[in-house]
Amino acid sequence: MKKIIIKNGQLVTPREIKSGDILVSGDKIQAIGRDLQAERAEVVDASGKYVFPGFIDAHTHMGVPIRGTTSADDFDSGSQAALHGGVTTIIDFTIHGPDQSLMDSIRQRKAEANKKSSVDYALHCNITHVNADILSEIPQVIREGIISFKVFTAYRDAGMHLGDSDILDILWDVKRHHGTVMFHAENGDLIDFLTRKYVRYNKTTAVYHAYSRPPEAEIEAVARVSTLNRYIHCPIYFVHLSTREAVQIAAMARQAQQPVFLETCPQYLYFDQSVYDRPDGHRFIAAPAFRNNSDFDALWQALQQGVIDVVGTDHCPFTLEQKDRAQGAFQHTPNGLPGVETLFQILYSKGVKKKKLSLQRLVSLIAEEPARLFALFPRKGVLMQGADADIVIFDPEGQSNLQLKDLHSATDWNPYTGMETHGTIESVLLRGEWLKKDNQIREESLRKGQFIPAIL
Ligand code: URP
Ligand code: ZN
Ligand code: ZN
Repeated sequence: MKKIIIKNGQLVTPREIKSGDILVSGDKIQAIGRDLQAERAEVVDASGKYVFPGFIDAHTHMGVPIRGTTSADDFDSGSQAALHGGVTTIIDFTIHGPDQSLMDSIRQRKAEANKKSSVDYALHCNITHVNADILSEIPQVIREGIISFKVFTAYRDAGMHLGDSDILDILWDVKRHHGTVMFHAENGDLIDFLTRKYVRYNKTTAVYHAYSRPPEAEIEAVARVSTLNRYIHCPIYFVHLSTREAVQIAAMARQAQQPVFLETCPQYLYFDQSVYDRPDGHRFIAAPAFRNNSDFDALWQALQQGVIDVVGTDHCPFTLEQKDRAQGAFQHTPNGLPGVETLFQILYSKGVKKKKLSLQRLVSLIAEEPARLFALFPRKGVLMQGADADIVIFDPEGQSNLQLKDLHSATDWNPYTGMETHGTIESVLLRGEWLKKDNQIREESLRKGQFIPAIL
């Protein structure tokens, strides 16, 4: 069996940073220790480098339909962007069409990823309409290896919004079968009301995107869902939190013993509402909207203190042509930004280097925690004997500025260009195969990502 020894790296886990070796045998980590030896092993010197478990992006949208178009990355280009960023597992979402069963939506999504994804993938199951048949599928979906169900409290126009009655039914059935319900938590009625008002008075520039999706939309939805769940105590996970107050409310629910988990995204740690005043402000349209400095500070603190559990990217890029098609009208511009390739870099350069985040906490947020919450642990998200040999070697030396030419998404625009970054993701191993070695992509390893079932 093929063996690799990664020698003398600084191995980073949520608990410690220690120097040592990793012995990979076939697709698994066989041993972690010092002075490891194996006959005919490929030996890689990682002195002076950090060695991480392969990162997990728990929130991507490859090829998703939004506002009359489709996000620019499919599983092929999006997963190649992921691997360049050290992300070896993505968790994407099924797309639940009208009248479609959950099982059929899963089959369809797997077919889209199969033989295209270059990194491993798991799935969350979107539920956009509810009836007795849909509810009865929940145990089967969980047996199929998908334990997280995603619900939207916004996007009525797109046919995705669910009301409280449906939400309660889903919480009840998912709890009975030990799954998790994820929430895009924004009050859709408030957003739709404000959007109608602004559009009526011809206020359609990018800043009205933020005005029509105010902090209160998120705060109300997080408070409401947490309150409803007091009667059920289903594990719930709030995606892309953007406000100090919503984080506080969710944290209070957790203090009251509810199983509540929180996610934010790099964009809510980096951009504030002022981007919407730029001439190209409409390109930054994403839901929720960007906030202000006080929210930034609260989010960074919550990350470091363990109040926020996961950073996912909500990767959902569009090309310039797609972003500009509606000539800046916020209500028609497709919402979403690229993120999967820059996940680690933003947390490292803007968090670790600025002393807002420890390296151990970083690895918890983008590896071990998502693996645990979405039942991929201990196969993924961890440097441990028996885990999949998904490994990132990072050289912390050097500094540069992010350039579009260095990025791999299918979009021709990236909101982070010009950002100062530190170090280089040098090598990436997926199940014992080099996807990238010494900054070179291994073409022969591409498009071999596997579906990873979540196991309860
Ligand atoms: O604007 C965003 N976030 N687009 C992706 C879809 C979603 O709501 O997560
Ligand atoms: Zn969302
Ligand atoms: Zn999303």
